[in-house]
Amino acid sequence: MGKVIAIANQKGGVGKTTTAINLAASLAATEHSTLLLDIDPQANCTSGIGLGEDEISASIYEVLIGEVPAAEAVVTTEMPFLDMLPSHINLVGAEIEMIDEMQREKILSNALPRVRRKYDFVVIDCPPSLGLLTLNSLTAANSVLIPVQAEYFALEGLGQLLNTIKIVRQHLNPDLEIEGVLLTMFDTRLNLSNQVAREVRSYFGDKVFETIVQRNVRLSEAPSFGKPAILYEASSKGAKNYMALAREILEKNQEYIEGHHTSENGEAEPGGNAAQSSTASSSSENADGESVSETIGEDSSGAEGESTPADDFSL
Ligand SMILES: Nc1ncnc2c1ncn2[C@@H]1O[C@H](COP(=O)(O)OP(=O)(O)OP(=O)(O)O)[C@@H](O)[C@H]1O
Ligand SMILES: [Mg+2]
Repeated sequence: MGKVIAIANQKGGVGKTTTAINLAASLAATEHSTLLLDIDPQANCTSGIGLGEDEISASIYEVLIGEVPAAEAVVTTEMPFLDMLPSHINLVGAEIEMIDEMQREKILSNALPRVRRKYDFVVIDCPPSLGLLTLNSLTAANSVLIPVQAEYFALEGLGQLLNTIKIVRQHLNPDLEIEGVLLTMFDTRLNLSNQVAREVRSYFGDKVFETIVQRNVRLSEAPSFGKPAILYEASSKGAKNYMALAREILEKNQEYIEGHHTSENGEAEPGGNAAQSSTASSSSENADGESVSETIGEDSSGAEGESTPADDFSL
C-alpha cells in the first residue's frame, strides 16, 4: 500500500495545487510510482498536469458516487512514474449527493485500497474548504501536508484545520499524521517572509519542513503549459525547491517505502491505512448520533492562535 498524503488547507490560494503537482512529479522523477489525485471541483491540478476534458472518461466524481471503480478513472501522464486520477467541475454536486450516504466521510477511503496497492505515494489535492471532500481525503490519508503561504495572516485558520485533524483522528482515522507544514511563496527579499517563517516555526516546531518553496514565476507559468515545473524548466528555483521537498519526504519515509516494497513480495506491511484497519468497524457518528462532518461544522471555535499550541495535537 502506498502512502497517502493529503495536501490540505481550507484557505484559498496558499499553494496546495502547486505543491500537489510538483511534489507528485518530483517523487515520480525519483522513480517512485505516484498517483496524483485531484479532489477539488476547480480541477486545477487536472488541467495543470495537461489533461483536457476530452482525455478524461471518468473522474473522481464517478468514483465517489460509486459509478466507476477508482482504477478505471486513473490515466497516465507524460511522466512514466506518474499517474493521475482527475477531477471534473461536476464534482461540485458530489458533496450534496454524498450527504445521505452511510459513512459519507469514508467513501474515498473505501474506494482507494485496490488502486493504492500499485503506488509508492498517492498525493491528494484538496479543495479550499473543510467540507466533505476534504474530510474524505483526511480519512483516506496516512498524513496531511499543510502548505502555508509566507504572507500576512499565514497562521489564520490553521487552528480550525488542526481542530478538524484532531476530530478526524478521534472519529475516523486515528493514525492520521501531520507529514509537515510547508512554507510556500517565500520571497527572500521581504522581511515579512522571514518574519512569517519564524512565526510558523515557533508554532509548529520541527513539523515545519526544512525545505521552503520560494516565489518563482516558473511555478505559476508551468500549469498553463500543462506541465509540472520539472518538465517545464527543470533548472528553475521552483522545480529545485519541490525536488528538495520530495527528498525530505523520502528520507522521512524510508521505512514506509521499504515496508511497501516488502509487502509487495507478500510479507507483512507496516503503516497500513488506519481507515482500512483499526477504524473499519467504527461508525462515523459520534456518541450523540451526529455525523462527524456536522461536529466539525460546530466545533471550530476556540482553536485559533496561541491558545492551541501545536503540542495539543501531538503532531
Ligand atoms: N511558489 C510560488 N511562486 C509563484 N507563484 C506561485 C507559487 N505557488 C503558487 N503560486 C501561484 O499562486 C496561485 C495559487 O496557488 P495554488 O493554485 O497552488 O493554490 P491553492 O491553495 O491550490 O488554491 P485553491 O485554494 O484555490 O485551490 C496560483 O496562481 C499559483 O500559480
Ligand atoms: Mg488548488
